[in-house]
Amino acid sequence: MIEEKELAKLSYKGAPKIISKEFPGPVTKEYLDLAFDNESMARGGGRFPLVMAQGKGATVKDPDGNLLIDITAGVAVNAVGRCHPRVIKAMKEQMGTMMHAIDFSSVRRTELAHKVAGIMPKGLKNNCISYFTQSGSGAVETALKFVRKITGRTQVAAFHGAYHGVWFGCNSLTTGEQYRNGYGPFAPGVIHLPYPYCYRCSFGLEYPKCELQCAKYVDYVLNSPYTGADDVGALIIEAQQGEGGYVPPPPGYLEIVKEACEKHGALYISDEVQAGAGRTGKMWCIEHSDVEPDMITWGKGMGGDVPMGGLTIRKDLAQKIEDHSQPNTFAGNGVSSVACMTNINILTENDNALIKRAGELGEQIKTWLKQESKGLQTIGDIRGRGLMIGIEMVKDKETKEPLNQQVVGAIVGGLLERGMVMVPCGRFGNVFRFMPPLVITKNYAQKAVDIFIDTVKNI
Ligand SMILES: Cc1ncc(COP(=O)(O)O)c(C=O)c1O
Repeated sequence: MIEEKELAKLSYKGAPKIISKEFPGPVTKEYLDLAFDNESMARGGGRFPLVMAQGKGATVKDPDGNLLIDITAGVAVNAVGRCHPRVIKAMKEQMGTMMHAIDFSSVRRTELAHKVAGIMPKGLKNNCISYFTQSGSGAVETALKFVRKITGRTQVAAFHGAYHGVWFGCNSLTTGEQYRNGYGPFAPGVIHLPYPYCYRCSFGLEYPKCELQCAKYVDYVLNSPYTGADDVGALIIEAQQGEGGYVPPPPGYLEIVKEACEKHGALYISDEVQAGAGRTGKMWCIEHSDVEPDMITWGKGMGGDVPMGGLTIRKDLAQKIEDHSQPNTFAGNGVSSVACMTNINILTENDNALIKRAGELGEQIKTWLKQESKGLQTIGDIRGRGLMIGIEMVKDKETKEPLNQQVVGAIVGGLLERGMVMVPCGRFGNVFRFMPPLVITKNYAQKAVDIFIDTVKNI
């Protein structure tokens, strides 16, 4: 059992605390101007009106000294919180020993590959090899290349609402218009299928009466003649959709999809970049199902606050990949490797205590949110697993018309003014994601729920 008072030491005390007269404050504004002047605003954060100066656990400070509760975890990166003292200590020791090792074997990198093999889900556990990257996009991009070599096939199936990164190959899988418009055409051979978004079912059906028509549709596309899907080498799917709106698939869905892949002879890739690393209450989100994936792409929350990603694939498949066919200069940096390893140790020690707590705390947060939002017309759906909770905002509960972007923006601003960072996602940009670091205290989590509800009520 993890003591709340131990977790409290990992974050700044007394959050939230806004001390500047207006938000953003004057120093923050100067930095924002400088950023807008010198950086491409194609970046993920765009013109988000926050500058991060210091971070600790589930809290951040801006350059004006404002202290905020962080419900973003750096978009699911800070699983064990920002600047975890054990991660910092391990990195400092490694810095004076060995950092860059030219994509050769190094002591830390080798230890990490072994460690990763031991935490994989059924089917891959201690029966896999890993390829290290610096990001989730790099992991997915490599998966696409390896699939071609392993299967000799040219098509890949992905899903509506999917986000798998924005490099050329993975961007072909990603569906968000802002990432695609004007940048195409992308890689050929991608087939997009409907993701089981039960709140807005593509088939107009309701679970469980639907009898998982959406999963059966995947089987139909992959395994019937004349659908155009005759050469699919792999299907890539998020075991809970992230950028697409924090959408968990209904029970039984992934199992049918996996079976459809097996019938077709396609590999099953679980993209765990956002939902992995303990976020949903299991080390890997796929572990909420009975599916054994052929490959896992991972990143974000695995790095322990530094860039680290990877592709882990079953050993028999890996034999088809030729030596020296995918070099990556910076992969497996000693400092990143030791940060990742320490991060994994913190997540998994004491029989996955922190991960299990994420599952329990997530249920508690959903209960608080549901209780406090009773009667609010703008909260349409509260869903998700563990600390990957989506709150879908609508104009009206009956029509489910998405809340417009102006109001969503006003809520984001209202949250910041009250000392809380939260970012929306979703196909309509109307899903607030409650995804704090796993080390957030219950006290801060409850405060965050109160602030969220108060903000929504007062916009
Ligand atoms: C499921 C998923 N895959 C891939 C990526 C791409 O990761 P990165 O931004 O590290 O390149 C993301 C990023 O949000 C993601 O959520």
